Amino acid sequence: MSESAGRTVPTLEFDDIQGTLLRRRPDDYHGVYLLYRIDDAGAARQSLRGILPKITSCADWESPRPFTLNIAFTYSGLERLGVPAESLASFSAEFREGMAARKNVLGDTGANDPSNWVPPLGSRDVHIGVLILSEEAGALQEPRTAAGRLGGVSLVYQLDVGVPRSGREHFGFRDGIGGPHIRGSTSPPLPGHDEIWPGEFILGYQDESGKLPDAPVPDALGRNGAYLAFRQFHSDVAAFRRYLRDHAKSPEDEELIAAKMIGRWRSGAPLALSPDRDDPDLAVDPMRNNDFLYYDDDPHGQRVPHGAHIRRVNPRDSLKDSVVAVNTHRLLRRGAAYGSVLPDGVLEDDGAERGIIFIFLGASLFRQFEFIQQVWLNDGDFVGLGTEKDPLTGNHDGTDTYTIPGKPVRRRLTGLPRFVTVRGGEYFYLPGLRAIGWIASLP
Ligand code: HEM
Repeated sequence: MSESAGRTVPTLEFDDIQGTLLRRRPDDYHGVYLLYRIDDAGAARQSLRGILPKITSCADWESPRPFTLNIAFTYSGLERLGVPAESLASFSAEFREGMAARKNVLGDTGANDPSNWVPPLGSRDVHIGVLILSEEAGALQEPRTAAGRLGGVSLVYQLDVGVPRSGREHFGFRDGIGGPHIRGSTSPPLPGHDEIWPGEFILGYQDESGKLPDAPVPDALGRNGAYLAFRQFHSDVAAFRRYLRDHAKSPEDEELIAAKMIGRWRSGAPLALSPDRDDPDLAVDPMRNNDFLYYDDDPHGQRVPHGAHIRRVNPRDSLKDSVVAVNTHRLLRRGAAYGSVLPDGVLEDDGAERGIIFIFLGASLFRQFEFIQQVWLNDGDFVGLGTEKDPLTGNHDGTDTYTIPGKPVRRRLTGLPRFVTVRGGEYFYLPGLRAIGWIASLP
């Protein structure tokens, strides 16, 4: 334990917390996400005991390892496995309902409506999720075999993920730069990564308010767990390229508009620190590339528009005059790209399925993932932008606008099409390792 901000920083139980919760994936990664339905609860529980030694915890994370394997359960999965009624009732309401049932909160309408999701996503047939990542494609076989030994289950969905050769997500942006830093999680924070109390993300520890987050009972099930939102986004890369071409004055202007939508140049360099031109050195310098605030340096959004993706999802100090405590609406991101790359310069869709699987982790789906999605991404009211949505990820229908403040004149982009379509998703619970043992030993 150590002291920070007058409070004691707890010792996190690294050997019990699943690795993906606290540790980022490698920059160069290959992986597979496997979703299972439970057909025979007894056989499934029995086999969970067998897979336990293969599950990666946070302990000793920096040592080389051939792969990481993490495992999570949906509410219907926990029900199927025989978790007692009292425990089931102690999970949060939104987790019990499941992601599809939360479509009104999440704004999943039109093309994003769960009725259009890829089966079995959003059905009650997804029970266990296994997340496998490795720096070596060849090292995936061992954990796949381990997952294949899960008994009493059927594989109902599988998605290969991996970093595109460019090292960037499909729209061409470098991703995975922003924080936060969790107090007590070994390495010191990088500049600009806010230090957040662990209970915002891990159950069983104090959160920003100094309280323990609501957690499922008994403690054996709740301690060191987290909620996980799994969401598959299809990226219409050709539509994005065409939109930039049709609305920009020049190729340089295309890059500027793209940067204004996200708040970073595609290289990852933040507009907040390099507003007029890309800066590839800044982009890859972890001591500088996240070290910025908005309130004093960019109050009117002249550098980073108020509606830009990164300013919406983490307004930093922008909202300090309002009652919103930004740090109670943070989340941990563990996304991974899937699908083939649309070759450079191609402006017509090739019909291929590509995009990002997002994994958001935290202590409260409602206060973190759902709040960000509903209040900050799908609306503009909180920054005086009316009904404007996030320019890249918004559920657009061809009529939406995007305001880019600027000198001498602001720009307003019109007719935004849908660049990102939700293919489906699920809410999971990512238990600690002892909790998985507890589930495995249920009668
Ligand atoms: C296909 C959909 C999405 C794409 C392509 C995308 C892309 C990006 C990119 C390029 C960045 C900047 C790099 C970085 O700071 O790491 C970023 C940052 C971020 N995104 Fe997204 N994103 C998507 C959806 C979402 C959603 C749905 C959420 C939340 C519900 C979200 C939350 C965040 C957060 C919290 C940051 C870090 C912001 C900061 O701390 O400054 N993203 N995203």
